[in-house]
Amino acid sequence: MRVVVTGAAGFVGSALCDRLLDEGHDVVGLDRLSAYYSVDQKLDNLTHALRSSTFAFLEVDLLTANLRDVLADVDWVFHQAGQPGVRASWGSQFDGYVRDNVLATQKLLEAALGSGIKRFVNASSSSIYGNALHHPTSEDDPKSPVSPYGVTKYAAEQLCAAYAHSFDLPVVSLRYFTVFGPRQRPDMAINRMIAAAISETSEPFELYGDGTQVRDFTYVEDVVDANIRAALVDNVVGSVFNIAGGSAVNVNDLLEVVGRTVGRDVPVRRIPSQAGDVRRTGGAIEAAKSCLRWEPSVSLDAGIDWQVAWQMSRMRKRSDR
Ligand code: UGA
Repeated sequence: MRVVVTGAAGFVGSALCDRLLDEGHDVVGLDRLSAYYSVDQKLDNLTHALRSSTFAFLEVDLLTANLRDVLADVDWVFHQAGQPGVRASWGSQFDGYVRDNVLATQKLLEAALGSGIKRFVNASSSSIYGNALHHPTSEDDPKSPVSPYGVTKYAAEQLCAAYAHSFDLPVVSLRYFTVFGPRQRPDMAINRMIAAAISETSEPFELYGDGTQVRDFTYVEDVVDANIRAALVDNVVGSVFNIAGGSAVNVNDLLEVVGRTVGRDVPVRRIPSQAGDVRRTGGAIEAAKSCLRWEPSVSLDAGIDWQVAWQMSRMRKRSDR
């Protein structure tokens, strides 16, 4: 297949590119290499893909790129690009969230019209549920995001649904629940916990609130797997699926798991809970199980082992430079 991945240098996007290339697809990766976090980390993420003769990387912004040309003769689009981060989306930052999550998605959807693509897989988020009424939360439960980030992700998902409904664009949306594993963004909890524990000179981990908030963590390769199934499986166009790992754990317990894996307690500094954070996430995955034949395969402990190994190796490489 000929495939386009947006956000190709990011956490999930780069892992998806690697898997698609390993499975023999031709991949064009788009990324504007925004400065939200280290461009060095993003370029490192692309190391494996750039060695492949069937990978092309375009450093472009979705809002200004000639997307009609990019999508000509393409079979699958995996839209992973976006401005992530729940708690940073308030105030003056909001413009960037609207730009990169809403306007960019609309631009890509417009370009996809008439392109003949067979599938458009959109990365959505558990944050669209806000403080859900039920756990595990089902796809049909109310959407009531409590962060501006969640509002923009919901808007993007609804745009996808509108294009699917009005123009039969073959869209599937996947609602990711807090993804972790190698290449995790440095603003996310597990990355920060490991960083605080592996080096005696690091700043302590800033724990928001009392640490009783719960997240349903999902391993990155399971998310990659869900994307590929969403492209391959028949009769799912127009659907949305929770992609949740089933490893629901509170942040206090997570600190213990990370400390045990690293072999050193995570130093902690407590600060107040943050606006935009939900109390608890937990996704019902019956729909993904029955329609995509997907279920998570990597436990929290195994995934944290691999993320610790990746962060340690990055730290060693940096100190060798
Ligand atoms: C994550 C991603 O960052 C979002 O982009 C994604 O859309 C979202 O998952 C999702 O599932 O939809 P979040 O759950 O906040 O958002 O993930 P983390 O940043 O890893 O935070 C997990 C928990 O750790 C949160 O409860 C947060 O309050 C806590 N945390 C995080 C801290 O106590 N300190 C930190 O420095 C970071």
